[in-house]
Amino acid sequence: MAQYNLNVNGTNHQVEVSHEDTPLLWVLRDHLKLAGTKFGCGIAQCGSCTVHVDGIATRACSLPVSAAEGKSIITIEGLSEKGDHPLQKAWIEHDVPQCGYCQAGQIMNAAALLEQNPNPSDDEIDSAMNGNLCRCGTYLRVKAAIKTAASQMS
Ligand code: FES
Ligand code: FES
Repeated sequence: MAQYNLNVNGTNHQVEVSHEDTPLLWVLRDHLKLAGTKFGCGIAQCGSCTVHVDGIATRACSLPVSAAEGKSIITIEGLSEKGDHPLQKAWIEHDVPQCGYCQAGQIMNAAALLEQNPNPSDDEIDSAMNGNLCRCGTYLRVKAAIKTAASQMS
């Protein structure tokens, strides 16, 4: 067993895992019970597990917990105190989700984009969101909501 200190959504946690290669996603969901971050492909190909690690959109399924120690990890549960981040409000306004499975990853990826580029062009949104897959095809509403949030944040 190995122990790690993780800072998740501003709170320090000590977790004990069986192996240093245990993915951060497992620790978030199984140890810390933060189930908003979803397991999709497990091989960094779908984006449903996207969280922020030191402000960078990161696929938690492919980051060993050992690499997350000492970093600031933000999950969908910690994006805003009351679910009122401009993106979350825009998601409601545009009625974005369908089944919802990919949506936490979509929002976290979009949030990292707007942190780095508060007024992205259509092409920049497409490029940044390209790796976040949605089996329900909500892409147009995702893009519209990002533009609405960007207009309200700038
Ligand atoms: S579950 Fe991590 S990218 Fe698909
Ligand atoms: S809303 Fe169903 S997978 Fe995206």
